Amino acid sequence: MFKHDQIERSVGLLIVLTILTVSVGGLLEIVPLFYQKSTTTPVEGLKPYEATRLVGRDVYVREGCYLCHSQMIRPFRAETERYGHYSVAGEFVYDHPFQWGSKRTGPDLHRVGGRYSDEWQRAHLTNPRDVVPESNMPAFAFLANTKAKDSVGANVEAKMELMRGYANVRGIPTYTDEEIKGAKAAIGEMTEMDVLIAYLQGMGLELKNAK
Ligand code: HEC
Repeated sequence: MFKHDQIERSVGLLIVLTILTVSVGGLLEIVPLFYQKSTTTPVEGLKPYEATRLVGRDVYVREGCYLCHSQMIRPFRAETERYGHYSVAGEFVYDHPFQWGSKRTGPDLHRVGGRYSDEWQRAHLTNPRDVVPESNMPAFAFLANTKAKDSVGANVEAKMELMRGYANVRGIPTYTDEEIKGAKAAIGEMTEMDVLIAYLQGMGLELKNAK
């Protein structure tokens, strides 16, 4: 067997053993998360994103909202008093990719669903300063100029099929064929702003009133 000072003197050996230690340690932390029920099962009441919200989420990703907003309420008093129940893993099982983020130029948005009316959201996205005078959030008025069916919604069926694939791997409830067939009709003439608001208004509702 090697003595410790032999390992420390041989750089090659030190590198190999360090990589081995870090890999084994890492795997022991990460692998169980793929199997633990609390991280892989949806929280009660959580459903796959409806077509409109699924493509609204794509607007959120495309516009980089996550660069200023997190979707991760930490389990601290200061956070739960301000935003509501802290975020749990089972709320994100339909998020591919998740939008947890860590940059908070603006407030956390995980439980923003239902906090404001649709009209407030529309006014705020069109020009944040109209409703929050000191806001430095950019205006997203242009989102009202494009129909969702011409951009993020153009391939909504394929997106839903993909999400169904992910859900099937985990064995959790997912879209029916009818829901996928009806997706285009559900989006209809909605603009990018409409679907984004639909996405925001459904956020974090399942544990909104949980204690
Ligand atoms: C440059 C940073 C920045 C970007 C990018 C940004 N925001 Fe904001 N957002 C803010 C700030 C700062 C506030 C707080 C002031 C306000 O309400 O306007 C805010 C507030 C909000 C609020 C109100 C939250 C609350 O609880 O009061 C919502 C909803 C929101 N943003 C949605 C979005 C969406 C959707 C996007 C992407 C289309 C986005 N933001 C992009 C900075 C940003």
